[in-house]
Amino acid sequence: MKADVLLGLQWGDEGKGKIVDVLTPNYDVITRFQGGPNAGHTLEFNNIKHVLHTIPSGIFRENKINIIGNGVVIDPIVFKKEIDSIQKLGFDLSKNLYISKKAHLILPTHRILDAASEQKKGKTKIGSTLKGIGPTYKDKIGREGLRVGDLLHNFKSKYQERTDNHKTMLSDFFHYDYKQILADCEQDWFEGVEVLKSFQIVDTEHFINDLLKKGKSVLAEGAQGTLLDIDFGSYPFVTSSNTICAGACTGLGLAPQKIGKVYGIFKAYCTRVGMGPFPTELHDETGTKLRDAGNEYGSTTGRPRRCGWLDLVALKYSVMLNGVTELIMMKADVLDKFELIKICIGYEIDGEVVEHFPFELTDNVKPVYVELPGWETDLTKIKNQDEFPEELNNYISFIEDEMGITVSIASVGPNREQTIFMEKE
Ligand code: GDP
Ligand code: IMO
Ligand code: MG
Repeated sequence: MKADVLLGLQWGDEGKGKIVDVLTPNYDVITRFQGGPNAGHTLEFNNIKHVLHTIPSGIFRENKINIIGNGVVIDPIVFKKEIDSIQKLGFDLSKNLYISKKAHLILPTHRILDAASEQKKGKTKIGSTLKGIGPTYKDKIGREGLRVGDLLHNFKSKYQERTDNHKTMLSDFFHYDYKQILADCEQDWFEGVEVLKSFQIVDTEHFINDLLKKGKSVLAEGAQGTLLDIDFGSYPFVTSSNTICAGACTGLGLAPQKIGKVYGIFKAYCTRVGMGPFPTELHDETGTKLRDAGNEYGSTTGRPRRCGWLDLVALKYSVMLNGVTELIMMKADVLDKFELIKICIGYEIDGEVVEHFPFELTDNVKPVYVELPGWETDLTKIKNQDEFPEELNNYISFIEDEMGITVSIASVGPNREQTIFMEKE
C-alpha cells in the first residue's frame, strides 16, 4: 500500500480540514506530517463546527487510527485544550491517537521568543501566528530541540537547560519582559505534558510503515500551503516547515515510492493571512465582497484574511512541486454573486509576460487576467454535478485545461454534505 497525501496549494486555509474529514471513511489511518498549532482546520457536520490545530482531521470518524508524525511541533497547552474540547463533544481519543516520539515540543519560551522576534522586526515582521513555530523549528534544525520522547526520561533538567538559554536570549538580545508571561503559562504547560504522556507515544515511522505493509490505507494531511513552504514559498514570509509533498516523506518517515495519490486543494479564489507578497490581492470592494462572502477570518487567530482572484501561475508552480494527481476546488459558492470572475494566467514583469513563479514577488509583478462569466446561482444546495450551471463547468474546465489535471471534488459549502464528487469521463 501507498500513502495518499492531501495538501494546500495556496497560502493555507484552503479547506484541508473539511476534505480530510470527508475522505476519512475511505482510509484506515489519518496522519499529520508538519506544522503545529499555527494550523486551524475547520470541520462542520451534524450542527458541530470544530477547529483542529494539532490533531488530524480524521478524529471524528469511528475506528480510525490518527497519528501525529515526527515533522509536527506540539504545544502541550494547545494539545490539552484540543483534547478537552473534543472529549466534550463525546469523542474518546484514548485508543485511536498516536504521537511520534520524534515530534518536537513547543516550549513556553518558544512562544515568547516568537513574539519577541516579531516585535523586534517591527514593520518587516512575518505576521506569524505567534504560536512559537519559528523558534521551535529553529531549535530543531540547530540540534537543540526537545522531543516528545524526551518527556519519558529525566525531562526537568533538559527543560531547565533549554529554557535558561531562551531566557538569556530574551533578556540580553531581545530586551523582552518575559517573566510574568512565563510564570502565567508554565504550570499549564506541564499539565499539558501530563495529558500528552497519557497518549500512545510511539516510533511512528515504524508504526506507519508496518500499517502500510499490513495493507492499511493512509491519508497524510498537510498544514499551511505550498506558497508558505520554507524552501519554495514567498520567503521570508513563509512558515518554518516543508509544506510540500516531500514534507510527508520526512515528516512521517515514508520513502518517496510509498507516496500514492497527491490531492492538491485550492480555493476558487485566493486568500492570505499575515504579511508578504500576493500578486492578485484586491484592495477594493471586490476584495471586501470576497472576504464577506467567504467569511475569510483566520481559524486560529481571527485575523481578516487578504483576498484576491485565483492565481494560476502560482497554482501551476504548486502542482509542479507536489506532483499533484487530483485537484480539489473549494468554496465555489463564495463566487455565487459575481457577474464576472477573473483568473490570473500570467505575470507581467518589466513589460514581459511570464508564466513561471519568479524568485521574488515584488511590486513589479502585475497579474495578467482573463475574465470569465460568473454563474450567479446559489450552489450551496446542489447535490450533484449534473446541477452545475454551465458557467461553473466552464470555470472548472478552464482550470483543468491550464493545469493538465482534473478536478475530482468541488466544494460548495462548509458542511461535510456540501461536497460534490465529480464524475470521471
Ligand atoms: P484549512 O486550514 O485548510 O483546513 O482551512 P480553514 O478551516 O482554516 O478555512 C477554511 C474555511 O472555509 C473554514 O471556515 C471552512 O468551514 C470553510 N469552508 C470549507 N469549505 C467551504 C466551502 O466550500 N464553502 C464555504 N463557503 N466555506 C467553506
Ligand atoms: P492552515 O493549516 C494560513 C502563516 C501566518 C504567517 C506565516 C508564518 O490552517 O492552512 P507561523 O506562525 O507559521 O510562523 O506564521 O504563515 N500561516 C498560515 N496561514 N493558514 C495556516 O495554516 C497558517 N499557518 C501559518 O499567518 O503569515
Ligand atoms: Mg486554516
